[in-house]
This record gives sequence, C-alpha cells and structure tokens, in this order.
Amino acid sequence: MASKEQMDALFAEARKAANFAYAPYSHFRVGAALLCDDGTVFSGCNVENRSYGLTICAERNAVLQGVARGKRTFIALAISTPDSKDPVGPCGACRQVLSEFMPLDSPVCFGGSGSQQVNTTMGELLPYDSLHDLGT
Ligand code: THU
Repeated sequence: MASKEQMDALFAEARKAANFAYAPYSHFRVGAALLCDDGTVFSGCNVENRSYGLTICAERNAVLQGVARGKRTFIALAISTPDSKDPVGPCGACRQVLSEFMPLDSPVCFGGSGSQQVNTTMGELLPYDSLHDLGT
C-alpha cells in the first residue's frame, strides 16, 4: 500500500505533468501520475484536439504511457487539476480504463489548486463493476 509520502510525491508528479497539457480549447489542464507495482511512475496530461471528441484525458494518457512500456499493474493514482480550486475526479471513461490495470483497493488522490484533496480508492470510483474479474 502506498504511503502518505508516496502519495504526496505522486501528486507532485501529476502537478508537473499538468504543465505539459495541450488544452487550447478548454484551458483546463490535467495531470495524472500512476505508481507501478515495481515502483516506477508514469505520468500523462490531457491532449485536446480541434475535433473535440478525440481529446485524450490525462489519466488515460498515463495508463497508455505505462502499458506501452510493459507495465500491467498500477497500485496508486494521483490527479492534479491546477485550473480548478476544488478537486476534480476522473471521468467515467477513465475510471473504466484505469480499472483494467488497478486493483480495487488502490489509493487514488486528486486535488486542484486549493488545499482540499480527495483520498479514495479505485473501487470507490467504480462501484458495482461486475466485469472486473472477467479478463484476469
Ligand atoms: N479531462 C481530463 O484530462 N481528465 C478527466 O478526468 C476530466 C477531463 C480533460 C479533458 C479536457 O481536455 C479537459 O479536461 C476539460 O474537460
């Protein structure tokens, strides 16, 4: 289980990743950082497109960064949304994709520019996921 120090470090990585966001349409930067079961960290930012529906969220970007390098299990997630004061949680599509590679008890934290931070778990973000064990 990730320690408080690890979660703080992960959140700092997510905040750094948000700086790379390509968000000329929404002006809403998002950064996500995933801790792998081997201790490595992968991060991602949102990448928008003028065909709005093709936008890639930061969370899915981070998942793909890790999977493309052979990672299969992420044990913690942090999300930073510096353009909102309050925390903003991952969208439904990202919750589904994250759940493919994250145990349900994995800690998830998210926060904006203010001091409030939400600390939850993958399972709490995607309850009643009857298909969770289908592929494993
Ligand atoms: N966004 C994310 O990157 N992650 C989320 O979970 C919510 C939304 C991005 C998509 C879009 O570029 C911007 O935030 C505004 O919706």
